[in-house]
Amino acid sequence: MRKPMMAGNWKLNMGPTEAEALATEIKQLVSSNGVDCVVCPPFVSLPAVAQGLAGTGVAVGAQNVYHEDSGAFTGEVSAPMLLGLAEYVIIGHSERRQYFHESDADVNKKIKATLKHGLTPIVCVGESLEQNEAGETQSFVSGQVRGALDGISAEQVVSLVIAYEPIWAIGTGRAATSEQAGDICGNVVRQTVAELYGSAVAEQVRVLYGGSTKPGNIAEIMQQADIDGALIGGASLSAGSYADMVRITGEVYGAL
Ligand code: 13P
Repeated sequence: MRKPMMAGNWKLNMGPTEAEALATEIKQLVSSNGVDCVVCPPFVSLPAVAQGLAGTGVAVGAQNVYHEDSGAFTGEVSAPMLLGLAEYVIIGHSERRQYFHESDADVNKKIKATLKHGLTPIVCVGESLEQNEAGETQSFVSGQVRGALDGISAEQVVSLVIAYEPIWAIGTGRAATSEQAGDICGNVVRQTVAELYGSAVAEQVRVLYGGSTKPGNIAEIMQQADIDGALIGGASLSAGSYADMVRITGEVYGAL
């Protein structure tokens, strides 16, 4: 069985002081209970959060990375710079694709840089409302998965995490139904990995759902066979709701 994961994406929230306080609360409230717990603060807050959560079983991730290791790339942060501060890196979030024009090729380079340095990518894919309504979800998401994984070996693929986040469900309070989410995670994301690497490999890859997840809907989402966890935005900014989601996920998995 794949180990479930609850990853919190703090986005552009929580500077170092606030992040340290939130990490302290998380340390008090979260009991990982068979769930891989990850929180992803902004770069500047990584040291405080990494220190605050050291030894707790809650891992730390970055929200982005640059594909080069060093050099004249003003404003960027590289994978080797994250070592010791983060174990995971969110790559290709729809907000990066939309506002910072990241392409599938950029996402692919970032995944390679991340894996090269022993960090675990959480690769985001997901369609817009227009694409969804035009019936393009399957082809678009499958294309994003193929673009992201170009040149990645089967050994590397099993270690990474893919998050399906329909853009229309992010921050809108309008989560995909658990059936819709489970269908795309299984029949599109995992199926595409199976087409590329075979089903034995695809069965090992963790696929998360993201978009308006919260304590009230996480049990239903986690009951879907092909959903292995969540990438949580807003609800991860409260230690209480994040801890509840981890607890509920542990209970759902414990009962399986
Ligand atoms: P919300 O949970 O706030 O909808 O955000 C989802 C997301 O984008 C996580 O990366």
